Amino acid sequence: MITDRLQRPLGSLRVSVTDRCNLRCRYCMPEQEYVWLPKQSILTFEEIARLVGIFTSLGVGKVRLTGGEPLLRHDLASLTAMLARIAGIRDLAMTTNGLLLARQAEPLRHAGLGRITVSLDTLRPTRMQDLARSDRHADVLAGIAAARAAGFPLKLNTVVMRGVNEDELVDLIEFGRAHDAEVRFIEYMDVGGATGWSAAQVFSQREILEVLSARYGPITPVATGDSSAPAERFRLPDGATFGIVASTTAPFCRSCDRSRLTADGTWLLCLYAERGIDLREPLRSGASDAELAELIASTWRGRTDRGAEERLGVAQRAPLYQVDGLRADPHREMHTRGG
Ligand code: GTP
Ligand code: 5AD
Ligand code: SF4
Repeated sequence: MITDRLQRPLGSLRVSVTDRCNLRCRYCMPEQEYVWLPKQSILTFEEIARLVGIFTSLGVGKVRLTGGEPLLRHDLASLTAMLARIAGIRDLAMTTNGLLLARQAEPLRHAGLGRITVSLDTLRPTRMQDLARSDRHADVLAGIAAARAAGFPLKLNTVVMRGVNEDELVDLIEFGRAHDAEVRFIEYMDVGGATGWSAAQVFSQREILEVLSARYGPITPVATGDSSAPAERFRLPDGATFGIVASTTAPFCRSCDRSRLTADGTWLLCLYAERGIDLREPLRSGASDAELAELIASTWRGRTDRGAEERLGVAQRAPLYQVDGLRADPHREMHTRGG
């Protein structure tokens, strides 16, 4: 097992398959214009599968497809099938905004995808208009229904923003219960892309628990088998469970086994990392699997990243990057690094 300088294993890989998205969520893509990764730099399915194979040979067992919006990548089911054949992967998942899921859920299940997480920030179509500049709320609901019908274990991700959707926590819990999906509330993070972030808009884990316990009664933490998972799980008195990803007020870098591969083959050791390692260049200039494995392993052994914990120490917290910094390097965008 390869571990970094803080004894964290190389355990999970988030693979962004495209930097494009068909929503414009305020917390992720608030600008009018974006700089996209050049088309010829986007890895082919064969290149992605080769890299993922090398990562699994080094101990990665969890792979999650992300974007931008992963379902915008043409024929994602074919890539899924290629990845599902890689022996070392014990958990193959996808995070999607759900818009295109209704038609693709069944083929993805058939291809070997194991589970799906859908972003659902509001149950109100008019609010989605304001939050994500889209009138396609019904498509998201249809996607969730199709994923259930196809037999996927489902999670729902809600970024909670004060003054935007913090009045929907109970409704979302009830929606999750009705659709057999685990809801996870995510604190608004000051990551790249979140140019409108302010501390005042963060609705914290503590506040989320206060609202829910006022409605349901005492909430108990649930022990998770997976200590590296970003979400803490909780149980309501009636047995329903939900999660909170408290990256902003209670970061979990100490147990972080995650890294990220962008659609153009840039490997990021941390969500907050200023730059990544270019794996595309050696991949395309003829490096062997052994050489790529050595590059990845030696880089991981030197990893010391604790991005979210370091942000905690910043006085007068403001957005990590201004828009010109993001335009200078789109790899800093959350929609490029895959959330
Ligand atoms: P599970 O395997 O189901 O636990 O998935 P996950 O929670 O790792 O993945 P998901 O895509 O649902 O991520 C949920 C939220 O956690 C997103 O907002 C991510 O940005 C955030 N998140 C995921 N990984 C990290 C991380 O390494 N650091 C921080 N700070 N946040 C993360
Ligand atoms: N704060 C919290 N979560 C974010 N995501 C994107 N940007 C932010 C942010 N600024 C999350 C989305 C999605 C995941 C891929 O990343 O909610 O669930
Ligand atoms: Fe991992 Fe970086 Fe997130 Fe911390 S901030 S949990 S080190 S990706």
